[in-house]
Amino acid sequence: MSNSTEMEIKNNKVGWESPSNIAIIKYWGKYGNQLPQNASVSFTLKNAATRTFVEWRNGNTTGKPECTFSFEGKENPAFKARLDKFLNSICHDFFPFLQHVTLHIDSSNSFPHSSGIASSASAMSALALCLCDIENQINGVGDFNESFYKKSSIVSRLGSGSACRSVYPYMAVWGKHQSYPDASDEYAIPAESSMHPVFKSFHDDILIVSADQKSVSSSAGHGLMENNPFAKARYLQAENRMRVLSEALNSGDIGGFGKIAEEEALTLHALMMCSDPSYILMEENSLAIIKKVKQFRQDSGIPVYFTLDAGPNVHVLYPDEFEKKVSAFIYEELKPFCYQGKILRDEVGKGPQKIC
Ligand code: DP6
Repeated sequence: MSNSTEMEIKNNKVGWESPSNIAIIKYWGKYGNQLPQNASVSFTLKNAATRTFVEWRNGNTTGKPECTFSFEGKENPAFKARLDKFLNSICHDFFPFLQHVTLHIDSSNSFPHSSGIASSASAMSALALCLCDIENQINGVGDFNESFYKKSSIVSRLGSGSACRSVYPYMAVWGKHQSYPDASDEYAIPAESSMHPVFKSFHDDILIVSADQKSVSSSAGHGLMENNPFAKARYLQAENRMRVLSEALNSGDIGGFGKIAEEEALTLHALMMCSDPSYILMEENSLAIIKKVKQFRQDSGIPVYFTLDAGPNVHVLYPDEFEKKVSAFIYEELKPFCYQGKILRDEVGKGPQKIC
């Protein structure tokens, strides 16, 4: 958009639904402008998603981004403040058009409020996709090509690091690593082609142990890595685990995959426990679930594994082939440890979708 005549854009609207993702190798520690201290890999989820619609109108003369925001039909001042800051930070370098338009952003989540899984990954990636789509429309470009998703991933990352991995189907890698030569610290890359088919239909049942707000935000958690005495060893460990995991993902080695998934979850929590100040993010019931998962695997021989994000909820990962037996186990033995018996059943998904 180069001059004011071209600015005569009609009122218009776009919408994207973008999923959450579950990291197998965790991003924990960052530097510079939202760049990761180590490479990470995640599965894209199917059911846990944010739907975001962005309407834009011409006629903003303030010279800076202007927006209104509603979440599930209601104003949300806390997220609006984060949004304003984010839009200001990306306007100059990524979307100069934001100076000339007013946005109305309307978002909703597919998962319930009280599930304790506030997903900045789905929210930020849905917004980034909308902004890139608007830019395309303003420039008369209709293509959702590789560079569209690359830019969406960069912008998502600036909103929330893990969000950059949500824009691709099945699996994504973020951060430089020798096992993924195209990978970058600036954006995630799609990694479906390095994924054995058995993982493409993997399940991830999210066992809600607590619906409380996190006791420490991810941003503050990343910050604590700066003075963590084990940080250097951790980044080296993540690099090695990425290499081992990439081979397991490629070859369909479910046992090798599960071992690393669990080690990564426990490492993440151990890092929080030995930060200053320290945080214990698991609850008694998280631990009870973890122990039961391990015991069930040992007794049944069924490859079922756990992972966690920076909170008490437990993700139970397993191949589709064992769906019946594992869900019976989850409902009989694990549900009693869940907050109000809440379980969000999810699985690996095909990535974001344009909905408007
Ligand atoms: C534990 O992406 O939420 O889920 O970049 O500060 O927004 P910010 O952090 P965020 O951190 C996610 C951390 C994690 C692991 C992961 O998803 O890789």
